[in-house]
Amino acid sequence: MTASDATHALLILDWYDCHRREMPWRAPPGGRSTPYAVWLSEVMLQQTTVATVIPYFNKFIYRWPTVEALAMASLEEILYFWQGLGYYARARNLHRCAIDVVERFAGCFPESEEELRSLPGIGLYTAAAIRAIAFDKHAVVVDGNVERVMARFFKILEPFPDVKPKLYMRASRLTPLRRSGDYAQAVMDLGATICTPRKPKCTLCPWKENCRGQSI
Ligand code: ADE
Repeated sequence: MTASDATHALLILDWYDCHRREMPWRAPPGGRSTPYAVWLSEVMLQQTTVATVIPYFNKFIYRWPTVEALAMASLEEILYFWQGLGYYARARNLHRCAIDVVERFAGCFPESEEELRSLPGIGLYTAAAIRAIAFDKHAVVVDGNVERVMARFFKILEPFPDVKPKLYMRASRLTPLRRSGDYAQAVMDLGATICTPRKPKCTLCPWKENCRGQSI
């Protein structure tokens, strides 16, 4: 990370502290969400929007407040509560993952990338999100929104999917050692509210001074 990368991380963290979106799985500023809430929300958010996920997340947390409770549920009931979210393999993996966390890790989500990725339904993205957001580890969280923001900021115009490793590298260099989880969620919020796919609101962007992509 160069001095300028550190400045950009600070700029977006300051912006996030003022403009972050409220979500039921997000802890208040300065707090930390539980690994269970982060995992559940991140699995639900794969392929699905925040607005759609919120009522599902609330119903799941109310019905199954802990990973132990979810592990003891029947798959039928989980699938019933999942109805409408789509991609039902996610619900099956959710159940298998809860059982694994209870049986292999005594009900505590592991912190290492390797152990997280050994769990059903947890890949590179979800492991990084859990490590950064729940455990405050330095992990690089890159989803489609983050890729779009990086592509614009660095004006990388090469086509997908070949460009993905380059975008990941850029994202990695910008990710700060501390507050990686807040930083990741800040870039996601920026992508959802300012650096939107169409008609981005560049005048409101904390990175506008140095963004190379303002006309893309
Ligand atoms: N999309 C996926 N995970 C998210 C999060 N933690 N905050 C906002 N958008 C997201």
